[in-house]
Amino acid sequence: MSSNNNAPDSTMPIDVVIMAAGKGTRMKSALPKVLHRIGGRALLQHVLDTAASLQARKAVVITGHGATEVEAACQGNTGLVLEFARQEPQLGTGHAVQQALPHLADDAVVVVLSGDVPLTQADTLFHLIAASGGNKLALLTLDMPDPTGYGRIERAANGDVKAIVEHKDATPAQRAIQEVYSGIMAVPATALKRWLARLDNNNVQKEYYLTDIVRFAVTDGEHVVAHKITDAVQVAGVNSPVQLAQLERAFQLGVAHRLMEEGVRLADPARLDVRGDLSCAHDVSIDVNCVFMGQVNLGEGVSIGAHCVIANAVIEAGAVIHPFTHIDGEKLGVTVGAGSLIGPFARLRPGARLEAEVHIGNFVEVKNTTMAKGSKANHLAYLGDASVGERVNYGAGSITANYDGANKHRTVIEADVHVGSNCVLIAPVTLGAGGTVGGGSTITKDTPPGALSVARGKQVSIANWSRPKKASKA
Ligand code: UD1
Ligand code: CA
Repeated sequence: MSSNNNAPDSTMPIDVVIMAAGKGTRMKSALPKVLHRIGGRALLQHVLDTAASLQARKAVVITGHGATEVEAACQGNTGLVLEFARQEPQLGTGHAVQQALPHLADDAVVVVLSGDVPLTQADTLFHLIAASGGNKLALLTLDMPDPTGYGRIERAANGDVKAIVEHKDATPAQRAIQEVYSGIMAVPATALKRWLARLDNNNVQKEYYLTDIVRFAVTDGEHVVAHKITDAVQVAGVNSPVQLAQLERAFQLGVAHRLMEEGVRLADPARLDVRGDLSCAHDVSIDVNCVFMGQVNLGEGVSIGAHCVIANAVIEAGAVIHPFTHIDGEKLGVTVGAGSLIGPFARLRPGARLEAEVHIGNFVEVKNTTMAKGSKANHLAYLGDASVGERVNYGAGSITANYDGANKHRTVIEADVHVGSNCVLIAPVTLGAGGTVGGGSTITKDTPPGALSVARGKQVSIANWSRPKKASKA
């Protein structure tokens, strides 16, 4: 969404109007339609991001249904001036844009978008603006095999655009027209204001149609241009969960293709989900059904096994993430050092900082813990609020008891410590360098460097022990 190569040379400012007042009944959801997500971002956010990459002077969002929620969700946008206009009640698309007029200065070319049409590319809009030349009404159109429901582009014999006829108002002959209006236009602000003042609702739906301004332009003797595209995904709207899922797949396929063009090897581009920003160095390979969220960076040669969920993490060069691993750095982030081996079935939580060549095996959970180079926890273990030195071996079934019910405490495991299986390290506690902790120990006191520390009941054997017998039934 960052390519501005086709930005018009014109110095005319671009103001964007985004219609987002509609109800979205067919979503059957309490969430306003434009806040449903594609690729982890609200539909409306996609449109705002497109407006930002047009370098629009401002975006005016027209809200109605769920206005408070929609407006709140738009906050925190950087680099785009946002204004809101409420439309209550919703009397049609023309009425919607009328609400934005007080926000629009006369020097602008206005680009009208819909908050539920998320995948329009900035380049397409630059072409549309160029077609408008800043002084004409320009419509984004396309041919549809089944144009049912859409406004039809009616042209004169010489090809000039004469009108947009809404489906419900169209004659059978007009309904046979396959060229439809996409819902997106570019129009000089002064002309838009002039034409919107003339709208009425004398039509089948008793709505104020934005599309009627085409007739007014033609009546005024002005030339209306159409910029026709072939890529229906760019103008597809979301009205139902089925359409949401279809556009999600289209979006994800686009992401997958961009990644492959950068050299990423995807086992199956149809089985990848990126709900944030995924950046990959060379020779990254990703197996099927992985989900990436937030900001994820994969270093050179990283390999991600099947069915991994990875969020807010940096995976350094050569690391291997085996299948079914869950990594979520949330706000603190997770770092996996170069050449590390993680999983299968591992869980890395916020603040896990693994240096190079760390091994984390199956059913191991690591949270808010640093692990120095070459340390290993290969089976069934928990490391929370710990600092682990180099070459530590942390045995199966061992845990840090880091939480006393009120406060969290740190466990320090110095370099070359060997923690046996099934140990409980009751924090705060420090295990001195090079020490060994016997399996099954509950460690409550610091252990000296180099020592063997064992803290468990001594083994007792009672000879010739006869097991209790079941009482015989009387
Ligand atoms: C509109 C066009 C139609 C075009 C189609 C493309 C009109 C009259 N018709 O039809 O020519 O082919 O889009 O999808 O413009 N909205 C408001 N306030 C309202 C009404 C709508 O904000 O009062 C918003 C909706 O939430 C939606 C957008 O405007 O985001 C388009 O409205 P929609 O009802 O989908 O328009 P269509 O009737 O499908
Ligand atoms: Ca629609």
